[in-house]
Amino acid sequence: MTPPLLPLDDDRYWADPYPVLAELREHHRTAVTPDGALAVLRWADAEEVKKRPEFVNEGLEYIEARGFVPGDPLYEWRRHSVGALNGDDHRRLRGLVNRALTPRAVEKVRPVVRGHVRDLLARHAEAGGFDVREHIRIVPFLSIAAFLDISPTEAAEVGRRMQGGGADAFGPHVTPEIRAAANATFAAAMAFVSDLVADRRATPRDDLLSRLIAVEEDGDRLSNDELIVLFTNIFAGAIDTTSSVMTSMFLEFARRPDQLELLRSAPDELARGATEEVLRFRPGFYAAGSRTIADTEVAGVRLAEGETVSIVIGGPNRDPRRFADPDRFDITRDPTLWSFTFSMGPHFCLGQALARAELQETAIAIATHTRDLELVGEPQWTSRTMVNHVDRCEIAYRFVE
Ligand code: HEM
Repeated sequence: MTPPLLPLDDDRYWADPYPVLAELREHHRTAVTPDGALAVLRWADAEEVKKRPEFVNEGLEYIEARGFVPGDPLYEWRRHSVGALNGDDHRRLRGLVNRALTPRAVEKVRPVVRGHVRDLLARHAEAGGFDVREHIRIVPFLSIAAFLDISPTEAAEVGRRMQGGGADAFGPHVTPEIRAAANATFAAAMAFVSDLVADRRATPRDDLLSRLIAVEEDGDRLSNDELIVLFTNIFAGAIDTTSSVMTSMFLEFARRPDQLELLRSAPDELARGATEEVLRFRPGFYAAGSRTIADTEVAGVRLAEGETVSIVIGGPNRDPRRFADPDRFDITRDPTLWSFTFSMGPHFCLGQALARAELQETAIAIATHTRDLELVGEPQWTSRTMVNHVDRCEIAYRFVE
């Protein structure tokens, strides 16, 4: 029997996908996307897809299916992208990035985030509030600058160039306009990073990029193209996702004064639970994809080699088999019971420790510096983009030091 359709073409689905996902997950186990991929919705099935060797991440075929061709800047970027490689190529590149993402580098970011969220709240206090979606993006930027040891000016420049809608090119609905914007975005970002690499080659500093260049030259390990892509990879993965979940954090606490009061009672102890709960509730990425490299079966559905599978993250994140009363937002859940938000298996998010630290600091800043936090109007959710987020999230509050 063919699984029912997952209504990705319907705007109403994106505004609140959870009732639809619950119905499909509980009564049909799986669904099928409008472009024919099997949508996996239960925790155990999602885990199998990410952990079994018959499933790998989609490579160039993922963007070929969205109309990109060799020579397009986004296509060339994807060739070396860590998320698009599998097997030994993936292990090698991932090992190098992982070496740079040290716990010390993550800890360095905490005071930067706490300070910037506090400043943002202080700056807009007189006006009584602000649109979180519009203003929060600077926070992951500045933290990634601190993390990568690049100057805020350099970070702002990469960010400015990457603002043109690159993430939409990975969504389920790619139009010629989205393709053109994404190609322009990636061309501009890679040109800038290429200059940055040339600069650090000429004048090495004590920073991540110089260290990666040194690794390349000593052991002939990273090509120039790989270096450039790696750096833009980190930016592409870090900004939209983290700022989207930060916005959701403001949103969920503005809607739930009781949970915010609880967090306020012990911010340092509860920041972790608050972060995990927002990540579970509003996962940022709407889906993680895979492709079969052999005939196989998952969730009771037979698949031939070369078929695509989409894990719709809201499915496993609200699976009652893993999370009791899954539609309840509760910051006192066990924070070690992770959700599917950072995926799992060989492609498990490389920046998860950094994102978690940033979100924990944001939770502490919200608890410490706001009173009477509330939403102004109802937020609007974007449709059909990979990073599912609210378009506007106006808040009002009183600032306290
Ligand atoms: C809340 C914020 C974030 C979310 C929700 C998120 C989510 C994800 C997801 C779902 C994947 C895909 C895993 C797969 O293919 O199965 C991923 C991969 C990745 N993420 Fe994140 N991410 C976040 C923040 C970050 C940050 C801050 C960085 C950079 C420091 C980052 C860098 C990466 C990289 C490089 C990959 C590719 C890993 C690989 O394929 O081996 N992410 N992320």
